[in-house]
Amino acid sequence: MSYTKTWLNYQKLANCPAEIAVSLAEQGPVAESIRRELELAFDAMYGVKPVFADTVKDAALGVTFCCDAACGLGEEGFRVEAASGSIRVVSGGQRGLLYGLFAMLEQLRMGKTDFALEKIPSNPLRMLDHWDNLDGSIERGYSGKSFFFRDNEMTVTGRIRDYARMIASIGINAVCINNVNVRGVAAELIAQRYREPLIRLARIFEEYGVKLFLSLNFASPKRIGGLDTSDPCDGKVRAFWRERIADVFENIPNFGGFVVKADSEGEPGPFAYGRTHADGANMLAEFARPYGGIIIWRCFVYNCQQDWRDTRTDRARSGYDNFIGHDGEFAENVILQIKNGPMDFQVREPVHPLFGGLKKTNMMLEVQIAQEYTGQQRHVCYLMPMFREVLDFKTYCGAENDTIADIVSGRTYGNRSCGMVAVTNTGDDENWTGHDLAAANLYGFGRLAFDTSLDPEEIAEDWIRLTFGLNEKVLGNIRRILMMSWPAYEKYTSPLGIGWMVTPHTHFGPDVEGYEYDRWGTYHRADHMGIGVDRTPAGTGYTTQYNEPNASLYANTETCPEELLLFFHHMPYAYVLSSGKTIIQHIYDTHFEGAEDAAQMLALWRELEGLVEPAAYARAEERLAFQAEHAKEWRDRINTYFHRMSWVEDEKGRKIY
Ligand code: GCU
Repeated sequence: MSYTKTWLNYQKLANCPAEIAVSLAEQGPVAESIRRELELAFDAMYGVKPVFADTVKDAALGVTFCCDAACGLGEEGFRVEAASGSIRVVSGGQRGLLYGLFAMLEQLRMGKTDFALEKIPSNPLRMLDHWDNLDGSIERGYSGKSFFFRDNEMTVTGRIRDYARMIASIGINAVCINNVNVRGVAAELIAQRYREPLIRLARIFEEYGVKLFLSLNFASPKRIGGLDTSDPCDGKVRAFWRERIADVFENIPNFGGFVVKADSEGEPGPFAYGRTHADGANMLAEFARPYGGIIIWRCFVYNCQQDWRDTRTDRARSGYDNFIGHDGEFAENVILQIKNGPMDFQVREPVHPLFGGLKKTNMMLEVQIAQEYTGQQRHVCYLMPMFREVLDFKTYCGAENDTIADIVSGRTYGNRSCGMVAVTNTGDDENWTGHDLAAANLYGFGRLAFDTSLDPEEIAEDWIRLTFGLNEKVLGNIRRILMMSWPAYEKYTSPLGIGWMVTPHTHFGPDVEGYEYDRWGTYHRADHMGIGVDRTPAGTGYTTQYNEPNASLYANTETCPEELLLFFHHMPYAYVLSSGKTIIQHIYDTHFEGAEDAAQMLALWRELEGLVEPAAYARAEERLAFQAEHAKEWRDRINTYFHRMSWVEDEKGRKIY
């Protein structure tokens, strides 16, 4: 199947230099990628094949790559200086040169010739997690099938190299290729069966500075090792892991480590043997350490067998409750992977309190660009503004360096194992991401993970120019669509921090009570009088998991940020918000507005007919039209429900079914 070039869509530029000389002394797989990319890019941009030479003095455009361990930029940082036809890229390592190369190409493509850039990545690990299954399906995947697996075999095709180029160009340096739910033959990824294609895959990733990770099944000693236990303290189990882990690291080049979902949503873990998460993670870490390997242990652990009558048990509390007591117990090469919020990638959640709580543990921020709960790549929902808010959140874990960006970059506690990871949104669809505009989330995540100080709107602008070219109208309209998309989605789906009003299992489309009486612990507790979950000390006590002043701020209805009011409090429909509107009127208004926003996004896109490549135009047009209709369904289902619950009329007398 053919596929699009996304933001690596190199187009012919004006003012082509007559000849281009490149000096690059480095050898090795990454240096080879730099050479290949230069040839590809300069041919497409200028129709010129670069000449590789020791000196670049006489060429119309001369590019010098300089690897200098003493440059102070580290192995992944870079400096690019371009003036009067001469460009110099400096880094302490080849990966930094590769990132510098892509940064240079971006500038040239955006019409700049004289510029200076210097970047050192904010986060040591900048990772993508694929939830790909070995049969080729993708859990919560909305852009086709896996390009790693098909029918229980691996598929190492030409597309993998393009994927590696694409993610390296935005600074991603780690990828986990299989679902965190390790089912069926996936447990055998650490055994011989998939060894040869994994080696081929890892070599391609290595050429682009990307480390390969695998998700493993904690019960592998029983599943594939023929043992009668998977107890992490059992001698035979330890021997199994020592041998398996050594074998993987010794044979798969550039291997990074393992991702583990344990004791979560039915996945096996150390609890079954009366052991702790630390016991489980540290045992694996011990055997990975000699190879510089990392164990990424997920904190998405909660009771998924709740009864809706029980108002004390709170799923939001569980991540913190399960892990806070083990702060300081985890080995140096273990990272706890924590979702941005305490529930599960809803359109609006408070920031996970573990980030402000853990002080002696490596942490990584997990976000989801697959849009499971935010429109599944059929609705546009540009998530960088949400991630920006998360990164800027002050946890008050200390006097300074206390934001999420500080913590996950390692600044706060001086740790080197930490970073950001996204559950990714790619598949084998022609355009990689189903919705053409969803590629902005992939591009944006990489850029933001590399530089956590970036402005979401500027990231969006770069992505638009690199994908669709430099037309101002195209830039303006797509920027507006992207920037209004997350607020719009929130407006027509989720009032004031209430999530989960989705169709059970698929998580797509409205179903206000779909999860209300289910066992997953995801309640909005709407009744005739009011709505929301009391998470104050008088309720579930969740607010106490935050440091002060956040704990009091959230616990008090007067100071609680209104966008999260119903996440933290059960409130009467008649409560008056700072806008002067009651909660019920706010629900009606935002749902009408959100649906109008969706219609406006479609109209903005339609103005671009003829200005955007026809196939991409048509694909996105179809999805935006769907979104506009679907937003009306969301509006009507939610407004009708709350109208019937509250018996309060809409002040504006609009049609509520
Ligand atoms: C969500 C999602 C699951 C996934 C889980 C996880 O609950 O719906 O499909 O397995 O998150 O993050 O582990």
